[in-house]
Amino acid sequence: MKKIYIETYGCQMNVNDSEVILSIMEKAGYGRTESIEEADLILANTCSIRENAEQRVWGRIDVFRLQKRKRPGVVIGIVGCMAERLKDKLLDGRIVDLVAGPDSYRRLPAMVEAVSPDAPQIDVLLSRTETYDDIVPVRMDRNGVSAYISIMRGCNNCCSYCVVPYTRGVERSRDPYTIVREAEEVFASGYREVTLLGQNVDSYRWTAPADCGDRNAETVDFAALLKMVARISPELRIRFSTSYPSDISDDVLFAMRDNPNICRHIHFPVQSGSDAMLEKMRRKYTRAWYLERVARIREILPDCGLTTDVIAGFSGETEQDHLDTLSLFEQVRFDAAFMFQYSERPGTLASRKYPDDVPPEVKTRRLNEIIELQNRMGALNYREQIGRTHRVLVEGPSKKTDSELCGRAGNYMMCVWPDRVHKPGDYVDVTVVDATPATLICRLSD
Ligand code: SAH
Ligand code: SF4
Ligand code: F3S
Repeated sequence: MKKIYIETYGCQMNVNDSEVILSIMEKAGYGRTESIEEADLILANTCSIRENAEQRVWGRIDVFRLQKRKRPGVVIGIVGCMAERLKDKLLDGRIVDLVAGPDSYRRLPAMVEAVSPDAPQIDVLLSRTETYDDIVPVRMDRNGVSAYISIMRGCNNCCSYCVVPYTRGVERSRDPYTIVREAEEVFASGYREVTLLGQNVDSYRWTAPADCGDRNAETVDFAALLKMVARISPELRIRFSTSYPSDISDDVLFAMRDNPNICRHIHFPVQSGSDAMLEKMRRKYTRAWYLERVARIREILPDCGLTTDVIAGFSGETEQDHLDTLSLFEQVRFDAAFMFQYSERPGTLASRKYPDDVPPEVKTRRLNEIIELQNRMGALNYREQIGRTHRVLVEGPSKKTDSELCGRAGNYMMCVWPDRVHKPGDYVDVTVVDATPATLICRLSD
């Protein structure tokens, strides 16, 4: 049996795509290996979101090429967002044998087959319809508890700094009945949590094709999809990512309120606290709108966890813009945040229109100020949990010791507690007795 080795970079959607790739290649007779030395096919499923994401992959390509020098029969492929962005530039000088964009994975077996020393293969066509909805991903998680399900692909927003619309193409929503079927299957095989994935889940919208019998012209939006998945079983927890501040509807919040198995956590990227920056970023909301949505979330779901993404040092960002971001972080008090320095991406609107003019040392200083503030705010939120109880889904032993288990509360906070009885996939009730800045120290509730 031939063997495939795959490395994955970037977002959760890319992880799920690697699972789709493994499934497609398994049908073509490839077994998975975790050792490069054993592999007949080495793939990197890549990310272009920031320059350093691409730099890491270039470093790995050098390592793959050493393998190829030792074993010339090995096929090296770059797939995913970097493949889509750089296209045949990746074939210059025969750096790799195969380049496949995010919508070309069904063709991978044929492409791998066709590779020869003088015939590298490339397919970077984007599709308006591909959702891989009939493919059962080969799960790569290690605990068999939590699975990713992509509900849509692509992105129709045009945030000026972002490469995703170029690497992933137009937005398309997947047939909800295939989503529910996939969630039912993972539940039946022991999983207890699914995370529904899309760049902007709030714009999920599927309309049945005209020839669909009794489902004719039926429309399913994200709130309706959440309810369909929530009905599978009260024992199946549902998470989702990512929510877009101008699109999240009250209906979604009501669906969360009315279905206890939809976890009370919203990943809610703000990007900046300054209206001038938000406009230039082409985010479709203002600071005031964002804060109103946060207030609405907390009104309808008082114990909802909130996390965010932010970019420091976007084009033209003044000290005042930066202070606006800090004050928003202070006001909202996120539980956690992914915090980045702006990285100009070739081809984006910002790279054409807005100079990358904040000096690197200023970007770094601002980013560090955001990180420092967020660490304090997050720690406060964690400390506030002391005394509360949470229903936690057991993921496995804690990082530190086998006599402790870990798992996430509904609000996404990581919990650890002494326990030699329960196993991954169990639900346990814990009481918070102490907190570090990013972990709740718990005991089993009485
Ligand atoms: N669709 C999601 C974001 C996906 S990309 C959303 O709209 O929220 C994940 C995060 O990477 C973004 O939220 C943003 O904070 C960051 N990011 C995207 N492009 C970037 C760039 N050019 N430089 C730095 N950070 C960037
Ligand atoms: Fe990028 Fe904006 Fe789409 Fe998110 S919503 S993937 S930031 S273009
Ligand atoms: Fe990266 Fe592509 Fe995801 S650019 S963040 S892997 S959609």
